[in-house]
Amino acid sequence: MKKKIGILVSGRGSNMLAIIKASKESTFPGEVAIVISDNPDAPALKKAQDNGVKAVYIDPGRKGAYLSTQAETQYAEVLKKHGVDIVVLAGFMRIIRKPLLSAFPNSIINIHPSLLPAFPGLNAQKQALDYGVKVAGCTVHFVNEDVDAGPIIIQSCVPVLQDDTPETLSQRILKEEHKILVEAVKLLCEERIKIEGRKVLILPQQG
Ligand code: GRF
Repeated sequence: MKKKIGILVSGRGSNMLAIIKASKESTFPGEVAIVISDNPDAPALKKAQDNGVKAVYIDPGRKGAYLSTQAETQYAEVLKKHGVDIVVLAGFMRIIRKPLLSAFPNSIINIHPSLLPAFPGLNAQKQALDYGVKVAGCTVHFVNEDVDAGPIIIQSCVPVLQDDTPETLSQRILKEEHKILVEAVKLLCEERIKIEGRKVLILPQQG
């Protein structure tokens, strides 16, 4: 049976769309059951609806990095109500805490536009450029109570070019984000991911 995926977004929604598009393939082992945004104006909401996926705004309850506890409990309830197995943070600009983490143990993943543990937090691509690295990239990782710090599932790298701006580097990284996020969601849906401490093992395909 296909796993149910819930996606949390705050903005543009290109990673969300990559998952929705992949999930329309008949062989994909998961389906997107619900998209939730903490921002009523997120373009992602319309993009999801245009692709036939239910997408709702849920009041985050407060400004800043966290949802209010009441709002986070509501997010968990709505995800559960839609039968969600796997939660994907796809450009969701909030730090997740207990109510969601304990409702979905080892089942929440995030895409971050740097090769973690380098450059966690905001403006990761600009941080990488300012530091002068020659290789940048992106990471899909499990979410825990620390920022951009959970066990790493997949990473992909891209070169940094001499004339890169944060925008050109971000575009190059974004193409890789779409690929590795879809791949990680697929692996999770297929139950091919095993966490051993900080290490994530990818199990072989059945059959
Ligand atoms: C992506 O770069 C993602 O890595 C970061 O926020 C951006 C969201 O882009 N967390 P989109 O909304 O998926 O287009």
